[in-house]
Amino acid sequence: MGRKKTRGRFIALEGADGTGKSTQALLLADFLKHFGIEAKITREPNNPAILKLIETCTSKEGACLLFAADRASHSQKIEALLEEGFWVISDRFTDSSLAYQAGGWEMKLGEVEKVNAFATPLKPDLTLIFSCTPSRAAKRMRRRGNESSFDQNFPLQRKVGNEYRLLARRGGGRKIMDASAEARKVGARVREEVKRKWKLQTR
Ligand code: TYD
Repeated sequence: MGRKKTRGRFIALEGADGTGKSTQALLLADFLKHFGIEAKITREPNNPAILKLIETCTSKEGACLLFAADRASHSQKIEALLEEGFWVISDRFTDSSLAYQAGGWEMKLGEVEKVNAFATPLKPDLTLIFSCTPSRAAKRMRRRGNESSFDQNFPLQRKVGNEYRLLARRGGGRKIMDASAEARKVGARVREEVKRKWKLQTR
């Protein structure tokens, strides 16, 4: 289901841990200013209270529902911003659950999709999926000094990356971005993609 036509556009940034999404969100928001576009950056997990529950949840199903619950209220915030005319750049959205819970945790893709369809009908206009090797991503995480056991789990990150690549083949406004280069170069590709999609002209 499409969403109401609003002036704002919704861009989701996706990828396994350490693929550089947060840096690219900042670069993209900055770039959009050149076109008179004000972008708001947001992220998932969104609600710290729900994140706490996710971290202590011992059931995959429970965590999957909690990610979706978080997304349900996050979506309302995004829709309100879009209606106000802001562009929204979200660091993770529904594809994160498809890639991590279905791909990484091996839950049934159809079930994860159903739970998420129940949580929100909102879909991004464009999803940029950052992709690089797990070892490249691990290096980035080390530089950031925030590697957790979750982030270090190579086999999981590999499964997540593979699921993202499968999702990209479905289309639906998804685009794989090679994220192995340095941030500046990846940023230039992101700019090209966004500029082309919306035929942006400098003011
Ligand atoms: P992340 O944005 O990577 O947090 P940080 O920047 O602190 O590393 O998200 C935290 C983890 O949650 C990440 O490993 C991906 C995972 N996750 C899911 O498994 N499913 C989801 O639906 C979302 C949004 C995140």
